[in-house]
Amino acid sequence: MCGIVGYVGSEDACPFLIDGLRRLEYRGYDSAGVAIHGGSRFDITRSVGRIDSLAAKIGNEPKAGILGIGHTRWATHGPATEPNAHPHLGGEGEIVLVHNGVIENFQVLKDELIAKGYVFKSDTDSEVIAHLIAEELKQSPEIKDQPNMRYLSAVQAAIARLRGTYGLAIAFRDKPSLMIAARFGSPLVIGVGRGEYFVSSDASPLAGRTDRIVYLADHQIAVLTPEGFSVLHRDQGKVRVDIRQLETESGEVGLDGFDHYMLKEIYEQPESLRNAMRGRLDDQNATAVFGGLNLTPQQLRSVERIILTGCGTSWHSALVGEYLIEELARIPVSVEYASELRYRNPPIENNTLVFGITQSGETADTLAALNETKRKGHRTLAICNVVASSIAQAADGGVYLHAGPEIGVASTKAYTSQCCVLAMLALYFGRMRHLSFEGGQRLIEELRLLPNAVQQALTCNEQVKDVAKKYASANNVLYLGRQYNFPTALEGALKLKEISYIHAEGYPAAEMKHGPIALVDDATPSVFIVPAGGTYDKVMANMEEVKARGGPVIAIASEDDPHVHQIADDVIHVPQVQQFLQPIVTVVPLQLLSYHIALIRGCDVDKPRNLAKSVTVE
Ligand code: F6R
Repeated sequence: MCGIVGYVGSEDACPFLIDGLRRLEYRGYDSAGVAIHGGSRFDITRSVGRIDSLAAKIGNEPKAGILGIGHTRWATHGPATEPNAHPHLGGEGEIVLVHNGVIENFQVLKDELIAKGYVFKSDTDSEVIAHLIAEELKQSPEIKDQPNMRYLSAVQAAIARLRGTYGLAIAFRDKPSLMIAARFGSPLVIGVGRGEYFVSSDASPLAGRTDRIVYLADHQIAVLTPEGFSVLHRDQGKVRVDIRQLETESGEVGLDGFDHYMLKEIYEQPESLRNAMRGRLDDQNATAVFGGLNLTPQQLRSVERIILTGCGTSWHSALVGEYLIEELARIPVSVEYASELRYRNPPIENNTLVFGITQSGETADTLAALNETKRKGHRTLAICNVVASSIAQAADGGVYLHAGPEIGVASTKAYTSQCCVLAMLALYFGRMRHLSFEGGQRLIEELRLLPNAVQQALTCNEQVKDVAKKYASANNVLYLGRQYNFPTALEGALKLKEISYIHAEGYPAAEMKHGPIALVDDATPSVFIVPAGGTYDKVMANMEEVKARGGPVIAIASEDDPHVHQIADDVIHVPQVQQFLQPIVTVVPLQLLSYHIALIRGCDVDKPRNLAKSVTVE
């Protein structure tokens, strides 16, 4: 994971680096560091913990220098310690670099470099790259009238030896105004200013500094000085770049009076759902419309299978999508973990559409799964929140969620927007096949009711707080639901695990008898998602089975359910909606429950331990 930034220009680099790292903190937050070119040496500051501790360490008098690089880390090789924090020096301090990615052959290279006398100061794979460039620099002759060529050649030679992924920003002690950036498999953008250039893992740090941006592609290297920049392919020479207009808003995303981003984002869901649907419901034809699928109606009509792939919460929304598309459009759907799909070799029929579902658009496994299926000639589409992210760019087309920035590490509004977009896609595909005009109209009506239903579901917050107090000391929690609410059970369990560190598992309610029921005792609460609908009676019977064994029961039930109180210890009511939209409503109290339990346990809700918002390593 990790986030990197770089600056070369005419101003002091440090303020941009610190501000940029704050915006990239979602990519990892266990340690951070900056290096400023001080003219004849690098001034390096590193610290364990958040960017705030790095900023405090630097204090009010940052080192002056017009070139600098910075890094926020999510540890892969070696624990979160100061020596393992980036930037890393190479050779005798001739090189300094920051790295995002994983170098798979680092041990072989490290052994080789140690044999040549290089001394390693960290456990990281990244330090290998710094020494490797230093070594290549020794072999690289000066070239007359091309003062930067020697450095570029050294970088090219070094990265040619790397196996794995990298986004790199590199500076050189003897070249105070030269920075080289390189990308393979980890995103990297260049901000083009006037007499100043920026490097970053994504565009957010550039907002307010420049609106001109270049997305580097794999194998590309950028050479930056205050006088200008050029981009080369690692082996094929100069490439023409497309300078794009930056769309990111410059302002910080505020808390707007909420204590945490997660809570704010939970409360934003009525609005984010409206935004997901805006302009996409077509009453005249009783269908949905999508501008960005880039497929003709004939191509869409001939789709024989859909693969939905993603990771974590996005994988849960794929499961909801499977139910929706199969039921409403009668197209077979397979749901795949992206991390498995990328290495599995499943037979995929012609006329298969592959959707990558992702909030960030940067998840390495989802990107790789899409690229692999695209390579095999299948049509790839993204359901994505972050505009112009790597996955949005790699896919043949797609649908944006328009949920707005999601800052809390635990995904909430992006999940419900993903489910909503999948419901609209099911409507769209359904109306190209068997779904009648009236059927389409009914669906549209139900979709339109959704934001208000979620608004109403949010009124359970005070009650959820009380329920949270009762169960916050549990060590294990089971989440059980059926059909459309089986994914809700998985998602509720994941939310609790990730922010409160309580062990939780989600199961289809009827599976309980096949093993998990052995876990039931008076200290293990079970959360049943049991809204009115087809399997209501069956889930109620499962609830009885848990009660009979002394397990406490929390039920998420429809507003006018008269029976559930007789069995469950605590009941949280949600508005009744059509069963295919239930997951979007029933998940709301579960998001709140995990939020309040995490607060009671004193956990860092927005930045839980060991996690990062964007998982850019596999
Ligand atoms: C959990 C969560 C993660 C992400 C997963 C995929 O709350 O946020 O499980 O869903 O890392 O991320 P995206 O959707 O950005 O591809």
